Amino acid sequence: MSHPLDIVLAYHERTKHHFQRYAAGPGGLDWATQPDPFRTFAGSPQVALPLLSDTTLQTRYADLYQPGAIAPHAFTLANIAALLELALGLSAWKEYGATRWALRCNPSSGNLHPTEAYVVVQGLAGIADGVHHYLSRDHVLEQRCDLRADLPTETFLLGLTSIHWREAWKYGERAYRYCQHDAGHAIAAARYAAAALGWQASVLGDWSDADIASLLGLDREMDFGDAEREHPDVMMVIGRDAAYRIAKTSVAQAWYGKANRLSPSHAHDWPVIESVAAACVKPATQEAAWRAPPRPDLLPLANEVRAVDIIKQRRSAQEFDGVTSITADTLFRMLDLTLPRAAVPPWDAIDWAPRIHLALFVHRVEGLMPGVYLFLRNADIESKMRAELSDEFQWVRAEGCPAHLPLYRVAEADARNAAKALSCHQNIAADGAFSLGMLAEYESSLAHGAWMYRQLFWEAGILGQVLYLEAEAAGVRGTGIGCYFDDGVHDVLGIKGHWLQSMYHFTIGGALTDTRLETLSAYAHLKREFIE
Ligand SMILES: Cc1cc2nc3c(=O)[nH]c(=O)nc-3n(C[C@H](O)[C@H](O)[C@H](O)COP(=O)(O)O)c2cc1C
Repeated sequence: MSHPLDIVLAYHERTKHHFQRYAAGPGGLDWATQPDPFRTFAGSPQVALPLLSDTTLQTRYADLYQPGAIAPHAFTLANIAALLELALGLSAWKEYGATRWALRCNPSSGNLHPTEAYVVVQGLAGIADGVHHYLSRDHVLEQRCDLRADLPTETFLLGLTSIHWREAWKYGERAYRYCQHDAGHAIAAARYAAAALGWQASVLGDWSDADIASLLGLDREMDFGDAEREHPDVMMVIGRDAAYRIAKTSVAQAWYGKANRLSPSHAHDWPVIESVAAACVKPATQEAAWRAPPRPDLLPLANEVRAVDIIKQRRSAQEFDGVTSITADTLFRMLDLTLPRAAVPPWDAIDWAPRIHLALFVHRVEGLMPGVYLFLRNADIESKMRAELSDEFQWVRAEGCPAHLPLYRVAEADARNAAKALSCHQNIAADGAFSLGMLAEYESSLAHGAWMYRQLFWEAGILGQVLYLEAEAAGVRGTGIGCYFDDGVHDVLGIKGHWLQSMYHFTIGGALTDTRLETLSAYAHLKREFIE
């Protein structure tokens, strides 16, 4: 048996895309086995949730970032429904010819949505105490079990899990990475949705995967049968005041429902995903002691738009116009939002220090010279970066950049061709205002445990969610980029060895809309009451 860390390191290497060879995938899409994007538990009691009306939540998007600016909403089932809708619910249906697919408030690689969500509630009017699975298609909760969880008052738990098969169907071996990115996006989406209600939300970082699996019933073989399994990601505590320790000893009384099988058959097996998932299983750990350092106030946003509107309109750009620029101040604010601050979402949901830095390919930012820039989210890394990255780098502080933002121009260049080539030749990396690679402190993080591999992708996903929303607020649009040539990025930056590895890419610019697609409203198919 290999050591878990060796398995993870080997997985990461073999799932790199290279200029001359992509990571192993199915080599074409087998539509007959396309996974059902919705998990259901047949036979479970259901509670239909109310939907948000246009007048329900007036919270301004800008206020999400102002501690204390949003008075906490009542702790009711209707407001938990609002949170689920804003975090993980449908945002629209798209139609092209005879094909129709749902989009959600949280993004997902290939729109495959491996992330499933559960709530654990207690003492709440309108719903039984227990564990309930959220079925976003119907905006219902499916009860999985009766349980008294011993939760503090005005608190519920949100558990996130991944069905790796959904991503592996399309992306093969690299899919495990994308599932983790999506989990990171979902953590941030949940944190933002809680903030829109004036609530707190944090990941229970000390829980083990086994704790999560047992509470949510993921380990109940009899309920899954031949259905694709779910892997525990995180447990979050959410409520008017979420700084709680939660007892993990609750025992379910009775379980309901059988999981649906998502694909009639699987044309390919991806044993390497099973093996990296096993190597990344998280044990119970101590609560982390890390706290965000004091920082100057966030750079302001002159924008009155409601949080609900920004969250629901979030989309991935599929094409950029190649002309729209943003101002340097807009970029500086985006970068500022990537820095953890106490009591500021979404970073207050996690308890670890930033381990990911940004390599920006600046194309069209008014006030900044085009070129390659580095943004250090944890200044401790600066001397090592200066010593070890390309010795051709210039390390010039970005023009007009506020003092608390460590943004350096390292090469003056038209980086459009390089950015496009590095992101699997995708035009979106070149035609926007900027694109970026997320560089993780890789070896030093994994030294704390192989399971940290997942946390690096989660952090990258959270960064992506920050950028998606802020792009909308700035009148432009973002897209997460999971397809990039890993070592190509490392070579361009002069990264030798594995102390830094690129975990995710992102791009922002002026989007072109595909007018061939028809857009339908998210929940027109439901006859449902609204939350007032
Ligand atoms: C982890 C991740 C990786 C992605 N990679 C790419 C990519 O390489 N290229 C691309 O065009 N879109 C990419 N996307 C965007 C997804 O295709 C998009 O989120 C999905 O189709 C759902 O659409 P929506 O974001 O508009 O809701 C990625 C999204 C995520 C979350």
